[in-house]
Amino acid sequence: MGIHASNKLETLVEQLRQAKTVCALTGAGVSKESGVPTFRDEDGLWQKFRPEELANVNAFISNPSLVWEWYNWRRQLMSGVKPNLGHLALAELQDLVDSFVLITQNVDNLHRVAGNRDVIELHGNISRNKCHDCGKIFEKGDQETDFVFKPGELPKCPLCNGRLRPDVVWFGENLPVDAIERAWTLSQQCDVFLSIGTSSIVYPAAALPQLAKQAGAYLVEINPKPTDLAPMADMVFSSPSGEALPLIVQALKDSA
Ligand code: OAD
Repeated sequence: MGIHASNKLETLVEQLRQAKTVCALTGAGVSKESGVPTFRDEDGLWQKFRPEELANVNAFISNPSLVWEWYNWRRQLMSGVKPNLGHLALAELQDLVDSFVLITQNVDNLHRVAGNRDVIELHGNISRNKCHDCGKIFEKGDQETDFVFKPGELPKCPLCNGRLRPDVVWFGENLPVDAIERAWTLSQQCDVFLSIGTSSIVYPAAALPQLAKQAGAYLVEINPKPTDLAPMADMVFSSPSGEALPLIVQALKDSA
């Protein structure tokens, strides 16, 4: 902290150049400039909807039609969106450092579309379906499970006839074990950790930057409204990720 603005990029470039492993954790803020609403901003989804009624495993069990309607609406909302300059900068970054892992809480698939190769999806991916009963995952493009939900017609698993659902993590559910274990390990091993566009309040994801810092990583927060993580960070960019990330990547390229 306390680094003069003109030295900030230089200092971060030095850290990124020396790092063996760089981890980035992203949240809804990184997709805001693509037109995907966040959850907790003034215009966020949780201002209009109640998470306990929609993104909740008990809600799906008691009222699957309502939950399906909401996810169909979100799928439509996300169907036309494209990666923004922040996503594209993160895709470039992976080729400018030794080893880069992108950990995301977002379900919108935009990091993969942007070109990131190693993406850990902590909260699933809205473009996939999963059987709630047998656990089988169906990728988008699988004819049997690509459907438009119609009220009264709940989709069934083609394998076990169980309840099909979006492959996302809901309140009341555990994160995919492989994803959180790998994210946990990498956060403790990395040299630079970038926390981008997340309110840093939903656990276990919110623990990752803290773990990284405790294990000795250089911690950077990028968020127009710095969060409770900021006092712990070595550097804070109080700007949208679509502005800060391209600047960081350009500085890294210029220093080559
Ligand atoms: P939130 O909506 O909680 O937080 C979004 C963050 O993005 C806020 O801190 C904003 O200040 C910041 N932000 C807004 N515009 C930005 C921009 N252009 N660039 C960078 N940052 C910006 O979203 P998450 O932290 O992702 O979980 O929420 C975590 C989890 O809570 C979500 O994955 C979801 C939600 O409930 C589940 O549904 C399981």
